[in-house]
Amino acid sequence: MYRFVFTQVLSRLDPEDIHRLTVRALRLLSVTPVVRRLVHRRLAPRDPALRVQAFGVHFPGPFGLAAGFDKEAGCVEALSALGFSHVEVGTITAHAQPGNARPRLFRLPANRAVINRMGFNNAGAGAAARLLRRTRGVPAIVGVNIGKTKVVPESGAVDDYVTSAKELAPLADYLVVNVSSPNTPGLRDLQAVELLGPLLRAVKEVADGTPKRTPLLVKIAPDLADEDVDAVADLALELGLDGIIATNTTISREALTAVERPRDRALRDETGGLSGRPLKARSLQVLRRLRARVGDRLVLVSVGGVEDVDDVWERLLAGATLVQGYTALIYEGPLWAHRINRELSRRLRRHGAVDLRQIIGRTAS
Ligand SMILES: Cc1cc2nc3c(=O)[nH]c(=O)nc-3n(C[C@H](O)[C@H](O)[C@H](O)COP(=O)(O)O)c2cc1C
Repeated sequence: MYRFVFTQVLSRLDPEDIHRLTVRALRLLSVTPVVRRLVHRRLAPRDPALRVQAFGVHFPGPFGLAAGFDKEAGCVEALSALGFSHVEVGTITAHAQPGNARPRLFRLPANRAVINRMGFNNAGAGAAARLLRRTRGVPAIVGVNIGKTKVVPESGAVDDYVTSAKELAPLADYLVVNVSSPNTPGLRDLQAVELLGPLLRAVKEVADGTPKRTPLLVKIAPDLADEDVDAVADLALELGLDGIIATNTTISREALTAVERPRDRALRDETGGLSGRPLKARSLQVLRRLRARVGDRLVLVSVGGVEDVDDVWERLLAGATLVQGYTALIYEGPLWAHRINRELSRRLRRHGAVDLRQIIGRTAS
């Protein structure tokens, strides 16, 4: 049904307009508790076998929504009701900013992919904090992903992240330092350990100082060289971080295969980060590398090209405790998370597993 609507209607409309409308509808659902509770009862994960604990937080399932969909923390409640075990909001920056000029979001349907150069459009940490205060008391697990304000120079990056962390860490179930989006000039340079060390140390001090001690993770790019992935992993261990999220979008276009379709071919050279199916192989590779390096000493959150239960299963086996997705939601529609949860429950039963811990990391080296 959704596929029909997508090909006949949605794919002809501007993707950012559709996204805006969707967020508005979900916001309406978020602030309508009676309907939202009904949806939640019908679609949210309820199977005890799917429950998983990571960095002291109890998740109703392993599968959540990656950062970038709910940039301003406006519809967390509705997204949880649709079946996402957690919602990572953001990226949020200390100061409000408009992001890049439109168009800045492009669908590549033949590749089941998206290119975006949104550029952290958001209303700033203060506005997000006000919305997040509202979500407390609702059954939703919220990660808060923070990034650098575009106009702040690299020399002011640490203070900028610390400002966001102070505002948002007390309201987050976990906090993410995003140093991997390709659309803020210079941001990904912060992944070099000489710069990343002081940044993570400063944010960790803030996260450690909240009443509940907010878990801290770092989100990395798929375009890092393997040795740099290892270096970030070692740094995360050294600093006592809680986990790593891998990966963000890629600037590479190598894995774009189905460019024979004129539309996708025209778009392949758009500037921005590529996500969806072409990212799958590299994202899995980075997960395997991280797991080999850190074992179960850090929580690994795998994201990039996850489309169905097979992908989620593969990531869990490879050592991810949590798995996230975004791009496939555009192609699969609102029941996507619910379907994955239902099929994951069945698969666990088929394998005679009563607990996800029996699966996580089983094929990791
Ligand atoms: C339109 C769009 C906007 C995104 N914005 C952010 C963002 O603000 N912060 C972030 O950390 N990741 C952002 N991402 C990256 C996703 O969180 C995810 O890491 C990436 O898309 C790979 O997952 P996927 O293949 O399932 O989409 C964005 C992705 C898309 C498609």
